[in-house]
Amino acid sequence: MTDSRTGLPSVPSAPSVLSAPPGPPVPPGPPAPDPVLQGLHASLTDPVLDAMNFLNEVVSRFPEALSFAPGRPWEGDFEPEDLSRHLRAYTDYLEGELGWSRARVRTQLFQYGRTNGVIHELIARALHNDEGIDVPAEAVVVTTGAQEAMLLVLRALFAAPEDTLLISTPAYVGITGAARLLDLRIHAVPEGPEGPEPDAVAAAAAAVRAAGGRPRALYLVPDFANPSGTSMPLDRRHRLLDVAEREDVLLLEDNPYGFFSRTGGTPPTLKALGGRRVVYLGSFSKTALPAARVGYVLADQEVLAPDGSRGLLADGLSKIKSMTTVNTSAISQAVIGGILVESGCRLREANTAATDHYAANMNTLLDALERSFPAAERDRLGLSWNRPDGGFFLVLNVPFIADVKALERSARDFGVLWTPMDSFFLDGCGNRQLRLSCSALDPARIQEGVRRLAAFIDAQSSAPDA
Ligand SMILES: Cc1ncc(COP(=O)(O)O)c(C=O)c1O
Repeated sequence: MTDSRTGLPSVPSAPSVLSAPPGPPVPPGPPAPDPVLQGLHASLTDPVLDAMNFLNEVVSRFPEALSFAPGRPWEGDFEPEDLSRHLRAYTDYLEGELGWSRARVRTQLFQYGRTNGVIHELIARALHNDEGIDVPAEAVVVTTGAQEAMLLVLRALFAAPEDTLLISTPAYVGITGAARLLDLRIHAVPEGPEGPEPDAVAAAAAAVRAAGGRPRALYLVPDFANPSGTSMPLDRRHRLLDVAEREDVLLLEDNPYGFFSRTGGTPPTLKALGGRRVVYLGSFSKTALPAARVGYVLADQEVLAPDGSRGLLADGLSKIKSMTTVNTSAISQAVIGGILVESGCRLREANTAATDHYAANMNTLLDALERSFPAAERDRLGLSWNRPDGGFFLVLNVPFIADVKALERSARDFGVLWTPMDSFFLDGCGNRQLRLSCSALDPARIQEGVRRLAAFIDAQSSAPDA
């Protein structure tokens, strides 16, 4: 017998109290562990998956605290009415520019749809305009956020037990979590102040091989990484592509923050420079709206099927997607499609105000830190931070253990939240670092937040475990 909800073997139910023999009442004790819940997948107790729940739990207990924790976009410019305007822009495009009938538009909006998505042409056009990336629209798979793109790509690429994913670290938990769900071998590649070090990638590939593994791909965020805020200069990108070629490693380039430069631009993406050596993961969560849950993957690599026929990696991803989300919500795609149409498929330009907002916030954060901790004070405390060229995040190195306990104290006694960095590492590092995100606040709240943070750091630095 199986349980219809879990699909797991069902257990006989406990005897009814009505039929229990009479006797003295039994005091209630802790519930016995449910045998059905034994032996679940290891990811369910993985610290990476636990860390996020734990963090969310702390954050939710202190709703009044000023929060440098969430990596969410600024929502001050979101208006509910905009959603219907975007939808209208998309249907006008289908009927007007593409000449579709009303019936066809209706089917597209209301029905199940093409597995790989329906806004792939618009995305391909935007990538040409915004990034100088030229791929056929058939190589675009529209996904339920970049998160699904990661899962699809990892499932497709990792075939043998020895296949190993190199992860530039500290890493976005979404990739580590996806790798854990799939039981992949992973190997951390520590990044430097300018992102992944090509020599470190070569050394990691050699170490994996020496241990009997096969380095299959490297995951990285070359522009304004989450969590570190680092960016790769152009020469490093070229050197990394050389290493990837030499070591026969694919690069999984994740680029949700690339528009948000504080200093006026970014080097070309690895995808624009490296062509088919790179699988490119895109997200509309930061450049449009996260509620749509729309992302995509560019997979223009040629693959050979067992029958000798050639196809695109995108077609393989499509097969996997048909067994995960079937297709990305047509309504969400229509909203994102409308935003693309309204911008003339120039999303970078459409994001100018957002880019200015994030740049002003990062400048405010850096200035406020500087004012709160002038050089002499920084030296006295042993405090430092990086100065990212853009994006949402920076990292503060502190002289105390920055764990969930410290976070609770910070929230309870000082009214300020941040993210402990240790959950972004695979090896327990980063426990004296915290991530500050400035995207969802305004300058006044950032200044107040830093004032509170400074009071916390001062107090915590003289705490016994500092
Ligand atoms: C590095 C990185 N990749 C991807 C995403 C976005 O993923 P999604 O498109 O699933 O919202 C985020 C969001 O926090 C991120 O930081």
